[in-house]
Amino acid sequence: MKNDIEKILLSEEELQEKIKKIGKKISDDYRNKELILIGVLKGSVPFMADLMKRIEIPCNMDFMAVSSYGSSTESSGVVRILKDLDFEIEGKDVLIIEDIIDSGITLSYLKKYLHAKNPNSVEIACLLNKPERREIEMDVKYLGYDVPNYFLVGYGLDYAEKYRNLPYIGILKEEIYKNK
Ligand code: IMP
Ligand code: MG
Repeated sequence: MKNDIEKILLSEEELQEKIKKIGKKISDDYRNKELILIGVLKGSVPFMADLMKRIEIPCNMDFMAVSSYGSSTESSGVVRILKDLDFEIEGKDVLIIEDIIDSGITLSYLKKYLHAKNPNSVEIACLLNKPERREIEMDVKYLGYDVPNYFLVGYGLDYAEKYRNLPYIGILKEEIYKNK
């Protein structure tokens, strides 16, 4: 796997430091609220796991799965729900946990979808943001890093379901996905 990585963009240590700070902020902001974290499968899993351990207040967790990319590196623009929530979120304070915001199509769809279930609030915690690629404006309350427009893998991010288990975020070598 390592040989397919052009460069490490964010090391394991950097990620953990950042996540610690985000967790602290969430703990302060949601004190005395009914916080529920909703992870977007599968990319958010490492971020969700590390972030929830840094949240010092009670919270529930749930997951949704949506399709957006298939196995290629370009968004299809179509969002489909593959797995819905297990819990009711009416009156709850929802925090969507996502790995990366690219066009914004996935998160804007999810935010609207969750809003319709009458929660008290819906906000977003997203580890990475590619501002250059944005098509739909989105308000991300907790953001880890703005990143340049490279195809990134690791720490949950995949190319054709591979590389999610890398402990850092790296730039994938172009030769891996070109002409595929
Ligand atoms: P959006 O709907 O265009 O914002 O796409 C967001 C989704 O695209 C993320 O949840 C990722 O699954 C995927 N994605 C966007 N950029 C990358 C990348 O650089 N590497 C891997 N997956 C990505
Ligand atoms: Mg994803």
